[in-house]
Amino acid sequence: MKRIAVLASGNGSNFQAIIERVRDGAIPGRIIRLITDNPGAYAIERAGRAGIEVRVIDFRSFDSRSDYDRVLEQAMDETRADLFVLAGYMRLLNDKTAAKFAGKMINIHPSLLPSFAGLHAQRQAIEYGVKVAGCTVHFVDEEMDSGPIIIQRVVDVAETDDEDSLAQKIMIHEHQALPYAVQLFCEDRLRINGRQVQILKDAE
Ligand code: GAR
Repeated sequence: MKRIAVLASGNGSNFQAIIERVRDGAIPGRIIRLITDNPGAYAIERAGRAGIEVRVIDFRSFDSRSDYDRVLEQAMDETRADLFVLAGYMRLLNDKTAAKFAGKMINIHPSLLPSFAGLHAQRQAIEYGVKVAGCTVHFVDEEMDSGPIIIQRVVDVAETDDEDSLAQKIMIHEHQALPYAVQLFCEDRLRINGRQVQILKDAE
């Protein structure tokens, strides 16, 4: 059983989707801790209901970014997790932390990367006028919303869509794609070769 730690900053609906797939046995792992930078995150309630330990590292209580980064990295280390899942974690990890957990940290982003990295990806997609959008689950590297891609899911953008309706459409796919990527990782079925991620049919 893999040890999974989740980092989330807000609502935590993706975190909830992972909780449910662990509970129904699809993911052969255990969520050992939620780490959040936001004491007001609804994800904390979700963890409480699921009996998952929470570590709050309130970003605003730190004088400097480097102090926060140091405490976060230490907290991640302490979990001894096999996998770290960024599920709506809205801060960049510094290069050192990203490098330290390379190959064992994944992120979900609400666009078809490499398009529309960064904040407000769905708004960027609407403003650009794309006809398809979607979500990407990828390994985390030192760059923002970069790193080898594990899964992408596509949705059509309708002329009537706005940022909110598109976000809702994409979210339905996020809630499937992220737990599935976690499942594949926990089944030892992901191999990283440079930028490519190979998905094995069966665990080797
Ligand atoms: C999700 O749409 C996730 O893809 C996005 O934040 C939302 C969190 O929702 N993440 C990013 O934009 C990261 N760059 P949730 O808290 O309900 O899971």
